[in-house]
Amino acid sequence: MPSSRTASALAHPNIALIKYWGNRDDDLRLPANGSISMTLDALETRTTVSYDPALKADELLLNGETAPAGVLRRVQGHLDWIRSRAGLTSPARVDSRSNFPSGAGIASSASAFAALTVAACAAAGLDLTLEELSRLARRGSGSACRSIHGGFVEWHAGEDDATSFAELLAPSDHWELADVIALVSHQPKLVGSTEGHIRAASSPLQAGRLADTPRRLRLCRKAVLARDFAGLANVAELDSNMMHSVMITSAPPLAYWSPETLRLMHAVVDWRSEGLQVFYTVDAGPNVHCLCPAGDQAEVSARLMDLPGVHQVVTAPVGGAARLVPTVG
Ligand code: PMV
Repeated sequence: MPSSRTASALAHPNIALIKYWGNRDDDLRLPANGSISMTLDALETRTTVSYDPALKADELLLNGETAPAGVLRRVQGHLDWIRSRAGLTSPARVDSRSNFPSGAGIASSASAFAALTVAACAAAGLDLTLEELSRLARRGSGSACRSIHGGFVEWHAGEDDATSFAELLAPSDHWELADVIALVSHQPKLVGSTEGHIRAASSPLQAGRLADTPRRLRLCRKAVLARDFAGLANVAELDSNMMHSVMITSAPPLAYWSPETLRLMHAVVDWRSEGLQVFYTVDAGPNVHCLCPAGDQAEVSARLMDLPGVHQVVTAPVGGAARLVPTVG
């Protein structure tokens, strides 16, 4: 097989400071609202894509094991867009490895689809702009469009496929923050975000959340650009609570918090009132992301480890963009 048909890429997950929840178009993954995130270093997905005419069908290995049929179908759909754009018909072998648990509220699909998009496009010989890569990654998993960039990133909701993509808000060295993630569960979540986005519109609170989003985006943008920790803490905690309010009032309801989640959220608010710079945000899972200045990460991590129900603490500084890496093996 010619080597130009193989490429490998690395991408990091991201933590949303203003969350994406609900779609205007589920198939295209056009979000109901814009969002802002921080890309996370240390956590990563590495993906190799090889187009091989000798294969009978697409193959997908996840952390060395054959992927379940549903996951393979989702990846195949993504590869099909890329193949049709490149005029390719060959099946592909995809080998994807992440160094963190998937499906537990650390956005594994974000790094997975960002790495897949970058590797699959390069192996297909497509030379795309960051905007085009972000749009393509979005179709695999919404939040993946933000993982194309490093640092602080804004996803413009847009109105159609052409206008919905993520852009850099500030580079990774703009502000030395860290995400100290308290894992209270390693279990994959029972309801994934694809289904959760569909349920969002059934909550009577979603309309209010969406109407207020431009204001929260403005506050968040301003706080990030000014490195205003207190301002960011206020708007990010509010935004996370608003998303979870929509989740628990959806039909059927979605409750991602466990008793430990709530206990940790209270602890973080107490620590902040005592003067420690830290705030929480929670994605579609029970684990709690605690953001703080990088200089305070050891203190935050030690305090979290002391709380009952915390199995593990993972610390991630601000990370870089998705990128091509040499293929190993
Ligand atoms: O990209 P998805 O479908 O995994 O949705 C991500 C949803 C949240 O993580 C809860 C929020 C966000 O903006 O990342």
